Amino acid sequence: MKFNIINVRRIFLDFFENKGHKIFTGGPLISSEDTSLLFTNAGMNQFEDYYLGYKKSHFSRIVTSQNCLRVGGKHNDLEKIGYTDFHSTFFEMLGNFSFNDYFKKEAIFYAWELLTGINNFNLSKDRLLVTVHYQDYESYKIWSEDIGIKSDRIIIIGDNKDKINYHFSDNFWQMNNIGPCGPCTEIFYDNSINFSDKIVDSNVVYSKRFIEIWNIVFIQFNRDIDGSLIPLKIPLVDTGMGLERIVSILQNVYSIYKIDLFNNMITFIADLIKCNDLVNISLRVISDHIRSCIFIIQDGILPSNEKHGYVLRKLIRRAIIHGYMLGIRDSFLYKLVSFFIHCLKLNNYLIKLDVNSISSVIKSEEDHFSRTLQKGFLLLNKKLISLKTNVLDGKILFELYDTYGFPIYLTKEICLKNNILIDFIKFENCMSEQRKRSRMYNNDTTKLKFNGLILSNYSSVFNGYINFEITSKVLLILVSNKMVKDIYTGQKGIIILNETSFFFESSGQISDIGILKNNNGIFRVDKVKKHGNVIFHIGVLISGNLSVFDIVCSSIDKFHRKCIEINHSSTHLLHSALRTVLGEHVVQKGSFINHKYFRFDFFHKKSLTTDELYLIEKIVNNYIRDNISISTTYMNLNDIRLNNIIFLFGEKYKQEFMRVVKIGNISYEVCLGTHVKRTGDIGFLKIISEKGISLGIRRIESIAGKYAISYIQSLHSKINLFSKLLNSNFNNLENNLISTIKNFNLLKKILEKNKKDNLNKNIIFLKKNIEVFKGVNFLFNYLVNLDINDLYKIMYILIKTLNKIIFFLFTNIKDDYFFIFYISKNLNYLFDKKELINFLSSKFNCKICFNSDIGNFRIKNDYFIDDFVNEIKYWIFGKI
Ligand code: SER
Repeated sequence: MKFNIINVRRIFLDFFENKGHKIFTGGPLISSEDTSLLFTNAGMNQFEDYYLGYKKSHFSRIVTSQNCLRVGGKHNDLEKIGYTDFHSTFFEMLGNFSFNDYFKKEAIFYAWELLTGINNFNLSKDRLLVTVHYQDYESYKIWSEDIGIKSDRIIIIGDNKDKINYHFSDNFWQMNNIGPCGPCTEIFYDNSINFSDKIVDSNVVYSKRFIEIWNIVFIQFNRDIDGSLIPLKIPLVDTGMGLERIVSILQNVYSIYKIDLFNNMITFIADLIKCNDLVNISLRVISDHIRSCIFIIQDGILPSNEKHGYVLRKLIRRAIIHGYMLGIRDSFLYKLVSFFIHCLKLNNYLIKLDVNSISSVIKSEEDHFSRTLQKGFLLLNKKLISLKTNVLDGKILFELYDTYGFPIYLTKEICLKNNILIDFIKFENCMSEQRKRSRMYNNDTTKLKFNGLILSNYSSVFNGYINFEITSKVLLILVSNKMVKDIYTGQKGIIILNETSFFFESSGQISDIGILKNNNGIFRVDKVKKHGNVIFHIGVLISGNLSVFDIVCSSIDKFHRKCIEINHSSTHLLHSALRTVLGEHVVQKGSFINHKYFRFDFFHKKSLTTDELYLIEKIVNNYIRDNISISTTYMNLNDIRLNNIIFLFGEKYKQEFMRVVKIGNISYEVCLGTHVKRTGDIGFLKIISEKGISLGIRRIESIAGKYAISYIQSLHSKINLFSKLLNSNFNNLENNLISTIKNFNLLKKILEKNKKDNLNKNIIFLKKNIEVFKGVNFLFNYLVNLDINDLYKIMYILIKTLNKIIFFLFTNIKDDYFFIFYISKNLNYLFDKKELINFLSSKFNCKICFNSDIGNFRIKNDYFIDDFVNEIKYWIFGKI
């Protein structure tokens, strides 16, 4: 049999199913909001809560094939990609798991049987080698005595002797800096011709000769925030085998980049860019990164500067740079998407998004980054030109690398060509600062630790889907972020209960509000958040006092809840209507739901036409009028996938059984949110707006229930007012409005024409009024009721057509006269203009604005204007 991705995956799942394991679908690639991981990095992630004892698994034996991404945090293979034969950012991990069932012996026996069994993978036993943790004598004995492996082929791996890093050896596996962990035993494949030689140096296991294929972890501890290892109560097994790796061994190619899937993708890139070197590292990097990008983008992530989006951006940019190194200068990555998706689908990968949506995200990042790359080149050139010594500041190398994504070797190479040295010490300093900053993110325990509070010690249960008032116990009170025994009137704080009716902020939905009360006091809850398994009621004590261990009634504001429910159920109906009208590619990208309105973001390229929007609105309102019952049920991931139920990343997926909200046969969505009982409860929905918010993502804003009614009423009253103003009845409003606008435009035209005529008349009149004195043209005129703009227009025409002129024109504005005046430049010799300004301002006690030859001023119209004009006139005549 030719082994390939599809049949090796199948053989693995079937093998363990025959051993009593339940086949589970792998969890989503994007980790949910409440884990400390960005991306799923191992098959066991989705079972974390089972391992930690927060939840009990319904199955004690499970097997999965899990999509993983190792590009950050504790498990980061990014820098290795292309340089080793067995690392890829994205990979599929085959794993079997035991919860309080079998332990070391069975786990080891199962792995051995699958790898070496004649009807299974049939690998030569002589080529296999194992490692065990130095304290795990039990595993050592199983390998040597029960399986019969020679002692030189069982390598004992010790811990790092450094006390601080105690238990950080290669054979002690941890999902992250905190969480489930334990010793492991690993199986390696010996790829050398001398595989039967005795092994004398155990370090050889880390050489290229050995390929790590299977990691069997015995999860025995939970590492807490302070680094301590808390023993777990039940025996747990977590194993992981890289699908691509084992396929590469079974296909005798010993490199994941040579298995048929990668071989096809790499050959395609090489053909596209006309490169003959099929083992080129850059080709491997590009193929790896674009494969990962496809999986990330299809889970709703877009390139950005934080979290998942940052990783996606980094992968696209690294791929571009490797393209650059292969001599490519134009956008090309987006051209790979279609073929890659085709290859992935051939290997039974679920690709939900269409080629265009994915390639357009990549293309836009490519176009954008090419410009950035150019900027990086320019910056480096500029810095090199302005260098005073032959040493480049390490900070510049860092800036180019960090801000522009400019590869270090590229800077090095350019410097080398220019005989420039680089201050690497400074560069290293900048890098270590950067590492510190990023460690702060990776170790971000705010999700698990709240101001010194170890959250795993507490847990609260939300039981408020139908119970709006629940009697519960106060577990903890925080005031000014400190644990206190009592909280008093006026104090703001946080109260944690063992059980609550308050829904917390999640799934885009705002939290409930309400009160916690007993006979001693009332706490007003303004906001509710969940961290780990703990629900925080945030608010203020409005009367009396409350204490830890008090029994209180948690009572939500029912009307507020109802309004939120109306909006949340509306989003599900809208989602379904959007898919009906626009197509199945419409996938929710995000939402925000409060009691007044909701926003719904989704993938779609074009803006929606009014007809489309009306149709969508109509469909939703039909659903509402059909008064369909809304129910919730719990399903496992498998059934969710099989039934094509809408399942968005970020949902709480870790439960074995997830809450599915079902609206008749219209909508099935995995959702934790609160919903109305029947669609009729929504009453009515109105879409308010639709717009694009980023590339390929549209946003609809909508209101429902009483807010939608108020909105329609306010529109109606506005229309009534317009009808009244237009003296029209409602039915004729449109025609009346059109004819009014037409009339208005006509009148505007007439008015403009009249104005123009008036202007011309005024000019003719003014020209006639010119007095000539000693060869200078004088004009002193009052123009009644002219607007200032027209006054200036007249002035400019006069200036253009007359030479040697001094004029004062003025008009009336309210209770004032507004003057503008002008003195031709060629009359400068007559008198000092400053003198005139002084004369005017002292005479009329006003501010004169004057700019070389044009001026203006404004005076009260209680002057005798003729006398006034004469005074100016004679002052000037007197000067000539
Ligand atoms: N969790 C372990 C690993 O990722 C075994 O599955 O290697």
